[in-house]
Amino acid sequence: SKGTYDTFMLKEIDEQPAVMRKISSHYFDGKKINVDQKMLKDVADADRLYIVAAGTSYHAALVGKDIFENLADVPVDVELASEFGYHMPKLSKKPFFIFLSQSGETADSRQVLVKVNELGFHSLTMTNVPNSTLSREATYTMELLAGPEIAVASTKAYTANIAVEAVLAKAMGELKGVKAAKDLDLQGQLALAANAIQTIVDEKDKFNKIADDYLTGKNDAFYIGRGIDYALSLEAALKLKEISYIHSEGFAAGELKHGTISLIEKDTPVFAYINDGIGAAHTRGNIQEVTARGAHVLVIASKKYAEKGDQVIIPEINEMISPIVSVVPAQLIAYYASLARGNNVDQPRNLAKSVTVE
Ligand code: F6R
Repeated sequence: SKGTYDTFMLKEIDEQPAVMRKISSHYFDGKKINVDQKMLKDVADADRLYIVAAGTSYHAALVGKDIFENLADVPVDVELASEFGYHMPKLSKKPFFIFLSQSGETADSRQVLVKVNELGFHSLTMTNVPNSTLSREATYTMELLAGPEIAVASTKAYTANIAVEAVLAKAMGELKGVKAAKDLDLQGQLALAANAIQTIVDEKDKFNKIADDYLTGKNDAFYIGRGIDYALSLEAALKLKEISYIHSEGFAAGELKHGTISLIEKDTPVFAYINDGIGAAHTRGNIQEVTARGAHVLVIASKKYAEKGDQVIIPEINEMISPIVSVVPAQLIAYYASLARGNNVDQPRNLAKSVTVE
C-alpha cells in the first residue's frame, strides 16, 4: 500500500535509507560477509565477469563494473541483454555471468540466461524477487531486499543493486586477498549512504523547486559527468525521460565537444555531476563550455569536490558506490518534473513494470 503517500514512486524513494540498512544487516554478520560460499568460490574463480541487464538494471551494472574491477580484481564486461544474446562476443576461458533484474522476469535477460545454461556456464541472478524466473533458472541468487517495487520507474532497486554488487565484490576480493577489498569498510559506507540519502530526501522542497526552475516548459535536458558520474548520468537521464517525457540524455562530459554541444542553446538545462575525483577538474571545464553557450547549469557535487556556488552538495561517501547517494537528487527531480506536467508518475505511458517480451 501507498500508506500516507500519493505515489509509490515517492514512497520507494523514501525507503532507500531503510533498504541500505537492511542490506547491511542481512549480508554482514559482524565482520563476516554472509554469502553462499559455493557461489563465492565459483565466481571468484572466473577470469572475467559478464554482467547482463536492461534499463535501470543495466545502469546499475555499469556502476558495478568499477566496483568488481577494483574490489575483486577481475575484468568485467557489461552487456545489454537485448543485444548480448544475439551478438555474443568471443567469451573468455572461464566466464561467469551475473544477471541484474529487479523483477527477475525480463525476457531480454532470460533469453541470454537460456543460452548461458545451454553453454554450461554458471550464473548468478541479483533480483528483488527471489522466486522469479531468472532466479530459478540461474545457478545462484542474491536478493536485493528492497521490498516490493511498484512504481514503473525503478528507484530503490537501482541503489539496492549497487549495494549488493559491492557486497559480492568485497567478499570476492577478501577471498582473493585484494587489499582494496580488505580496506573498504562497506558496513560503514552503507550506514553513511543511508544517512546521506536521508539528508537528501529530507530536502524534497529544494528538488521540487529545482525541477520547477530548470525544467518548466523545457523539451530537452542533459545530464553530464565523467567516470562513475557518467554511468550515473545515464540513469539520471532515463529517470527524467521515462516519467516526465522530457527528452533527456546522459553524456560523458568529455564527449560534448565531439558533437552534442551543438544542441546547447540559451537556457538548455544541464545537470552536471562531480563526484568522480579524477574527472572533477575536466568536468568543471565542460561546465564552463556549456555555460558560455547559455546553458542553465545545475552542479551536483560531492562535498569533497564542491566549489562555492554549487547548488547541490552530496554528503561524503566512498566514490565507487557514490551513485547510491547521488542518484537520489535525479530521482526527485524526475518525480517533481513528472508531477508538474500532470503525468501519471507511477504508470508512465507505454511502459510496463516487467517487460516479458523480447
Ligand atoms: C526504468 C525501469 C526499466 C527496468 C528494465 C529492466 O526505471 O524500470 O528500465 O530497469 O526494464 O527490468 P528488470 O530490472 O526487472 O530486469
